[in-house]
Amino acid sequence: MLNKHKHLERNSFWLLIGIIIVVAIGGLIEIVPLFRIETTIEKVQGMRPYTPLELAGQNIYIREGCNNCHSQQIRPLRDEVELYGHYSLAAESMYDHPFLWGSKRTGPDLARAGGKYSDEWHVAHLKRPRDVVPESIMPSYAFLTNKAADLYGIDKHLKALRITGVPYTDAMIDNAYNDAMAQASTSGDTTALNSRYGKKVNVRDFDGQPEFVSEMDALVAYLQSLGTFVDLKDYELQEAK
Ligand code: HEC
Repeated sequence: MLNKHKHLERNSFWLLIGIIIVVAIGGLIEIVPLFRIETTIEKVQGMRPYTPLELAGQNIYIREGCNNCHSQQIRPLRDEVELYGHYSLAAESMYDHPFLWGSKRTGPDLARAGGKYSDEWHVAHLKRPRDVVPESIMPSYAFLTNKAADLYGIDKHLKALRITGVPYTDAMIDNAYNDAMAQASTSGDTTALNSRYGKKVNVRDFDGQPEFVSEMDALVAYLQSLGTFVDLKDYELQEAK
């Protein structure tokens, strides 16, 4: 056996062939299971697509480049889990197109931003970050309060996402505009919205301007939803503690 190996080590051609075979076996074992996506993404309870208003918020998030400074992925490392909360599950970004995991953390990770602060905090912070966090280097986004959220074409966005596999129903698409308006208002019937997206959906005026659905409403609705869909207490995982 050793003699044969000696032969292999001295003959670079056969050594190369040997290396390729061994690496190919290792590669196949790692890669082939990933082609079956069902085995890669574990099913979790509570995951739902974004509401039209949250989706409009995500569009603003992307347009303003928030993802250049903020990641949305908590790694399963002790320091990250203690700082940001339960590490991100693959299923939690399954409806994100494009995904916004990011690789740069000029600011903190936002994967579990939902519910961490009040709406008033977010609005004050987005308007003038240094009023809230004096040493902040985050830019100001005060103009979002004055711009109406662009909701007229939002049904088309839902439709496009459905093609990529996000389970929006016909009713969700047909009522996208109304659902978005209902979510950001204090008056109005939200039973239809809740029946489509669940009871946990945040329904309220987010930006302190009840008569006006602004881009600030959409963005804060999106931020408040981040990382809140899956009930992690139900999900049996040992916290990395
Ligand atoms: C130039 C980089 C930069 C950009 C762009 C940026 N941020 Fe930030 N952000 C920061 C920094 C730095 C902090 C930490 C200091 C602070 O709280 O202001 C922060 C903090 C935050 C926080 C508080 C997070 C926490 O857990 O305390 C939120 C929420 C947030 N940013 C949202 C946004 C949103 C939404 C956008 C886009 C509209 C955005 N940021 C754009 C740098 C940035």
